[in-house]
Amino acid sequence: MAFPANRLRRLRRTETLRALVRETRLTPESLVYPLFICPGTGVRKEVRSMPGVFNLSVDEAVKEVRETRALGVLSIILFGLPEKKDEVATGAWAEDGIVQKAARAIKSAVRDVVVMGDVCLCEYMSHGHCGIVKDNAKVNAKAGPQSLGAAAAPPATAEYEIVNDASLELLARTSVSLARAGVDIIAPSDMMDGRVGAIRRALDKTGFENTPILSYAAKFASGFYGPFREAADSTPQFGDRRSYQMDPANIHEAMREIELDIEEGADMIMVKPAIPYLDVIAAARDRFDLPLAAYQVSGEYAMIEAAARNQWIDRDRVLMESLLCIRRAGASIILTYYAKEAAKLLA
Ligand code: PBG
Repeated sequence: MAFPANRLRRLRRTETLRALVRETRLTPESLVYPLFICPGTGVRKEVRSMPGVFNLSVDEAVKEVRETRALGVLSIILFGLPEKKDEVATGAWAEDGIVQKAARAIKSAVRDVVVMGDVCLCEYMSHGHCGIVKDNAKVNAKAGPQSLGAAAAPPATAEYEIVNDASLELLARTSVSLARAGVDIIAPSDMMDGRVGAIRRALDKTGFENTPILSYAAKFASGFYGPFREAADSTPQFGDRRSYQMDPANIHEAMREIELDIEEGADMIMVKPAIPYLDVIAAARDRFDLPLAAYQVSGEYAMIEAAARNQWIDRDRVLMESLLCIRRAGASIILTYYAKEAAKLLA
């Protein structure tokens, strides 16, 4: 039956009626707050392209987590800016690595906060890639220029390669080291094939069979990570991440990525970025029954902040709307730099 018998505006008349029929709600418990940990004490350095987001020394991070926890946000995720970078990402798996230190301090200072550890090598590698780099320049030089008519000339090899299998060992080592430091959830974001399985086996072998894995399962090679790379000092020194992160054009492949990570033992899955990939979130929700997370990434945050600072949009309204829409698309967990702000607005 159509108009005039049906009038959808009847249930929109007052805020109480709207609240009654509201289908989606945000709660602070479903938000995860990312923190960037840097060396030193008393350091609180604002990230240029992410106003309101800071590089924090361990002591400052503890304060920040206390405040966040008091606002009802139960979970944080840690990223590290190490003192030194090298070609084997020592800072990622070192016993006294920056994230390991932060995890120990936070876990002993704040009761029942869920600490997630982002597992990746890019912040700790001198070249800024998420895995071990193999330089193929020598291989190419040996092959020589391809002369016309030469029989069976070897195919041209890429200049360099992010080696998959050798990187798994470092990712597994990093995960065990984080678990030892008290990290509650291991969250690999590197996009190497087989890393969830490798991490699961390493955790099980070292007595961490109860430590869950939140896999950045469908992580796209995105321009929206720009500000993060400034925050975490992890811009690749050459090339880009397209040989391991996903092509933004592919949703079917995203489903395969997720499926494989589940087979390898992921306990939770993630889609990243969030707002430009709501269709991927919705498809993943429809198809898989694991807890589903989405990451509202640095560029999404930076765009809202920039427009708000120009008074082109209403910041609070837009940030809450963006989070609500990510939730509506099907993500039950949202990683967002707005976690603290959103919790305040919800209170
Ligand atoms: C590490 C990592 C990145 C992000 C999370 N983990 C950067 C990247 O892949 O280049 C991006 C998060 C953000 O943009 O907020 N690999």
